[in-house]
Parts: sequence; structure tokens; C-alpha cells
Amino acid sequence: MPIQSICCLGAGYVGGPTMAMIAAKCPDIQVTVCDMNEQRIEAWNSDELPVYEPGLDAVVTCARGRNLHFTTDIRSAIAAADLIFVSVGTPTKSYGIGAGRAADLRYVESAARLIAEVSEGHKIIVEKSTIPVKTASAIRTILAANSSPDASFEVLSNPEFLAEGTAIADLENPDRILIGGEQDAAGSSAVESLVSIYARWIPRERIITTNLWSSELSKLVANAFLAQRISSINSISALCEATGADVDEVARAIGSDSRIGPKFLKSSVGFGGSCFQKDILNLVYLCESFGLPKVADYWRQVVELNDWQKSRFVEKIVRTLFNTVNGKRIAILGFAFKKDTNDTRESPAIHVCRDLLREHAHLSIYDPRVDPETIRHDLANAKVPTSLIESNLEIHLDPYATLKDAHALVALTEWDEFRDLDFARIHELMLKPAFVFDGRAILPTATLKAHGFDAFTIGKGG
Ligand code: UDX
Ligand code: UDX
Repeated sequence: MPIQSICCLGAGYVGGPTMAMIAAKCPDIQVTVCDMNEQRIEAWNSDELPVYEPGLDAVVTCARGRNLHFTTDIRSAIAAADLIFVSVGTPTKSYGIGAGRAADLRYVESAARLIAEVSEGHKIIVEKSTIPVKTASAIRTILAANSSPDASFEVLSNPEFLAEGTAIADLENPDRILIGGEQDAAGSSAVESLVSIYARWIPRERIITTNLWSSELSKLVANAFLAQRISSINSISALCEATGADVDEVARAIGSDSRIGPKFLKSSVGFGGSCFQKDILNLVYLCESFGLPKVADYWRQVVELNDWQKSRFVEKIVRTLFNTVNGKRIAILGFAFKKDTNDTRESPAIHVCRDLLREHAHLSIYDPRVDPETIRHDLANAKVPTSLIESNLEIHLDPYATLKDAHALVALTEWDEFRDLDFARIHELMLKPAFVFDGRAILPTATLKAHGFDAFTIGKGG
């Protein structure tokens, strides 16, 4: 059965860009993206999209109004769709059984209940959200128990591998598409329907089909392996600092072994983003649930090392600034979890800023894309007392204003524009000695030295 109408529940960083790409590539298919958040939908229908992603504007503009629609009318969109993507959030549970590790599936479950309530005829349900293994069977049970007799469903797993900041390139030209389905005739037919959508622009050999559980688990494992590389190189960054080695040189040397490869070996103040920590913790919980505590410990260590890396960086700052940052002005460049996104979820900047505020530093923050309200909100969520946020935090829209009279410059996101700042001017603006702490190894070290900064770069000894 050819798909004529698609709907997606969840207009976030994944649902929005992914649906925009499908709509752009399949002009004959109606694509409706729904969200219960009215403001978000309004933003998707405006010139100020809620998600910053290079190239996204053009893709949305070419299809919006033609076959790409954004709405809060979730029921009508479900009713009209042959195929429904579920791309609602699956945050780490903060309460009860599995708190701090398990995924909170309440949004996925309520999406399934709504689909059951509204649907008639046959529909394909596609899990886009990252979920623990076997969620598809939970969705299927909810659908079966709550739907009308003339409704039937097939559940597929189609995890998203796009990285924020490069979402459009990743969607246009992915390494692979993964689709998991039931291994029977109905399942295969549903898988084939979804394959035929991606095959409009992605070579068939890059579309991997498999069973449901392998697909669900692969997403968690892919993120765990990627994050493990960062924690591995970050563990070595500490050793480099202690010995006078240079972590970038070590990464270059080991990365040219084709069995290791050059990617994901950039040492940093720590990884962030909505997926890595959440998915590893999810994997840890899964291992514990299946009675495999050693495996759980093994993966938990990847997250622990990441937390240690962030704390270690803060300690380095405090120690260098003569063991006190109380009342000192510290300029923070970058708050997003990586460059080219306005997303701050699990950003290492939250952890670093929280700890500096707890030391009673005075922070002045600049990020080219992150909304000041988001920064305040993230720090409040990280349990920084409101009084400190009000008294010790400034957010600027200009990097030079941020740096005026600062004791230290701390770079936490690898935005390209930070390399090209006028460091002579910055040195003049700052108090002396002018300290720099580069948590992303992106600032031009020779220039810093030439202008007389006292600079520390993550992973560089000597
Ligand atoms: C989400 C998941 O968090 C992730 O695990 C998965 O891999 C992809 O989908 P993302 O798109 O980045 O990632 O999340 P987010 O930007 O929070 O978007 C989720 C959207 O769903 C939000 O806009 C939220 O308002 C919406 N939502 C949530 C609903 O419309 N209905 C709900 O019941 C719950
Ligand atoms: C990740 C996966 O890459 C993607 O496939 C999956 O679908 C979602 O999770 P994302 O979180 O958007 O994507 O960004 P990614 O580029 O993977 O970066 C994650 C974090 O690791 C960022 O904080 C980044 O700065 C950091 N990182 C990445 C490093 O510190 N060093 C590196 O070498 C690479």
C-alpha cells in the first residue's frame, strides 16, 4: 500500500527536521508534524524556527504549506495518516523505579493511547524516539487493548542517527537508515512501505532492515560506542596534561590507524546532548534488569568519566585563579552542547557554570544562538539558587561586552566564530593576568601566547 499521508507526533529537534526532509523529498506525500506545545508549532509556522540547524530554513520553506504542515490538532492528523512517526521525548526517569537511569516512557505511552483512540483502518506506527528494547511490544499491547475493532496496526522501529548541527546533511546523505519490524508477512509489508519512502533519495544498500529488538537496541549501542570514544580520549587528556603530551597529537596518531579511525576523538570538557547520557543510562538499566551487573558497570563508567572530566575542568579553573573565584568575573564563551545548534540539553556548560556559581564566581555568558531565558532556566533546573542566578549571572549578546573586566575566559562550545575573535582587544579588556581555559581545544594557542594570555587548553601538557 503506497503511503499518501504521514504524521509525526513531536515537533522537536528530531521530528521537525526529519519530517521537513521527507516532505521535501516526497512532494506527493502529505506530512503533518504535531506537537502539544502551541508555541513550538507557532514557531515552526513562522520565520523564526524553534530549532537552529544550518540549512533547515531552506528545507522547511520549500515544502511548508505545500505538503508540510505544523499543527496542534493531533487527533485530526492521526486520523488522516497512513503512517505515524512517534518522536516525543523519552527523558531519563527522575522518580520511582529506575530513577536516574531508566527512560521515562509516559509520553510514548500517551501517544500510543491517543493513536488507539482516534484510529480507524490500517496504520503503520514508527518509533522514532529512542526507547528501551521491547517498547514496541508495549505499544502494540496498548494499541490492541484500546482501539476500535476495525483498526489494525503494524509497529516499526526506525531510530534516528542524525547529529544536531549537521542534521540536514545527515538526513540528506545518511551512513545508513535502520528499520526494524516484525518478521512475518504483515511486518515485512510495513517495513517495505517505509523503505520505499527513504529509497526516494537514499541508495537501497544503505537501508538496513532487521527485527524490532535489534533495531531498538542498535540505537542505544551506537550512542554508547560513540560516547565511549569521547570518554576514552578524555581519560587520556588528563594523562597528557600531567605528562606534557598533546591529546590532539595522540588522537592524530591513533586515529590514522584505519581500525580506529579519526572521528570522535576530539577531547573536550565533556560530551553533552540529549542522547548520549540518556541512552547509556538506559543501556545500563537494561543490563541490570537482565541480571548483568558487570556489563552495567562497564557502561556506567563512560558516564562517570564524563562527569569527572567536567568537574576536573572546574577544579583547574579554581586552582589556577589562586584557589578562589569568589566575586571574580568569569566570561563563558558558548553554552550550547556543541556548535551549530541552539540546544543546551545536558550541555557540559550547565555543569561548569553551576559549579562556578556555587564557588560564588560572577559569570558573564555569551552564546551566539542560545536564548538567554534558556540559560537561566537550565541553571535553575541544575539547582543553582535563584538568588545566585539573579545576583551573579549576566548574559550578553556580544562577546566583547562579556569579556570586559573578566579575570578569565572559559570556552565551552566550539563555535567557529570564537577562533576569529580579536584577541589583542580582548587582552586589553580583561584584568591581568588574563587567564584562558579552553575546554574544547579550539582557540588559536599561538595567538593567545603572542598577546600575553596565560592559557590552559584541555589535554595539553607542558
Ligand atoms: C526526541 C527524543 O527525546 C529522543 O529520544 C528521540 O531519539 C527523538 O525524539 P527531540 O526531538 O530532540 O528527541 O526531543 P524534543 O525536542 O524534546 O521534542 C519532543 C517534542 O514532543 C516536544 O516538542 C514536545 O512538546 C512534544 N511532545 C511530547 C508532544 O507533542 N506530546 C507529548 O505527549 C510529549
Ligand atoms: C548524537 C549521535 O552522534 C547521533 O548519531 C545520535 O542520533 C544522537 O546523538 P548529537 O548528540 O546531536 O548526536 O551530537 P554529537 O555530534 O554526537 O556530539 C555529542 C557530544 O559529544 C557533543 O557535546 C560534542 O561536543 C561531543 N563530542 C563529539 C566531543 O566532545 N568530541 C568528539 O570528538 C565528538
